[in-house]
Amino acid sequence: MIKFAVIGIGRMGFRHAYNLYMHHVTGAKLVAVCDISPDARKKAEKFKGVGIYEDYKDMCVKEKLDAVLIATPHYSHPEIAQYTIQKGINTLIEKPVSVTTKDAKELIQCAGKVPDIKVGVSFNQRSNRMYKYAKKLISSGKMGEIQRVNFTVTHWYRSQAYYDQGGWRATYVGEGGGCLINQCVHQIDALLNIIGMPNSVTATMHTRDRNIAVENDVTALLKYDNFECVFTASTHEIKGTNCLEIACDKGKLVIGPTVMKIYKHKSEKEVNATTKFGYGATPSFKSYKTYGFFTGLKDLAVGQQVRAIRAFVKEINGKGKQLATLEDGLNTMEIINGIYLSSWTEKEIALPIDDEQYALDLEHKKQSEINKSKEE
Ligand SMILES: NC(=O)c1ccc[n+]([C@@H]2O[C@H](COP(=O)([O-])OP(=O)(O)OC[C@H]3O[C@@H](n4cnc5c(N)ncnc54)[C@H](O)[C@@H]3O)[C@@H](O)[C@H]2O)c1
Repeated sequence: MIKFAVIGIGRMGFRHAYNLYMHHVTGAKLVAVCDISPDARKKAEKFKGVGIYEDYKDMCVKEKLDAVLIATPHYSHPEIAQYTIQKGINTLIEKPVSVTTKDAKELIQCAGKVPDIKVGVSFNQRSNRMYKYAKKLISSGKMGEIQRVNFTVTHWYRSQAYYDQGGWRATYVGEGGGCLINQCVHQIDALLNIIGMPNSVTATMHTRDRNIAVENDVTALLKYDNFECVFTASTHEIKGTNCLEIACDKGKLVIGPTVMKIYKHKSEKEVNATTKFGYGATPSFKSYKTYGFFTGLKDLAVGQQVRAIRAFVKEINGKGKQLATLEDGLNTMEIINGIYLSSWTEKEIALPIDDEQYALDLEHKKQSEINKSKEE
């Protein structure tokens, strides 16, 4: 039985704690929770027999923990994780792994010194069966070379009321960015998992119709060796879309939100070399099928967040693989930091980014946010 504690039992952490407490993760149990907020700790009293702490260090010393799940605001993830890893506790970190690539790299170094300890990032959307199947199809080569990718992520609607809840959200100081680092980090990770890392990013971002300091609208161009990907994200559209389209030489995948459409056809290069049709589609479709309706429903019913903990427990027990490693977390931060840098500097940013420059530019953003709030 893996003895788990959850650090930070706000919206997400409480759900994780509940899932562990209710034994939704076979082979794991909740033994302690920790939160700096008295209200959160009061709420946790319903977890009978579970230790409740204000200070995570105190908890790690007093409890015999096999694993912790960190579900605190973004900036604190690397600091808390470094502590728990050094204490020899397996550590699962909520997304994003950090706010900067610099912090993510330091964390990777720290984890490298304790190789027996498992450390991962809770990119729960990796358990989405459609994404898994898409990765398999693309990496098998059956779809041919990728020609073009579009990812439209406009379904995470957030009103002004959401932002007015305050706290750490929607500020560079508290969160390190807006919809990109918070909501869309999931899709950036899913994208990287399926098609890999680009060579550079060019991006613009805006704050539309909300009184917040950070972006709620992003358009980014990710350049790969032989194709490009347009990544569009917003949290202000009522009728949002969550659709990943990957056009390849021998077919096309249209993924989301609940079904994946798989088109397979002859190699476009071959068709083009031989066809007498000048316009429109040539009669070359080999097959069309949909995948995922029932698995999509199952995904919704079970809950991806539980599956992230289940996978982590399997990793600890040597019975399977966790969903995402620290290196996966770092890769998402390369893209995310790169997108911010590109929009701030109005330049194309080569990857990997310059860690120091990003950390410095972010500090400037935070400082001007602090100065502005003092003036108001
Ligand atoms: N995977 C997902 O689907 C998903 C969904 C929502 C949020 N998240 C992530 O979960 C994390 C938390 O988000 P949230 O919405 O639950 O935020 P939240 O503000 O509701 O909860 C954060 C909690 O952490 C506590 N906290 C802050 N610093 C602490 C510290 N040093 N020690 C102990 N407790 C501390 C706060 O008091 C608060 O109760 C974020 O990283 C967020 O991006 C993930």
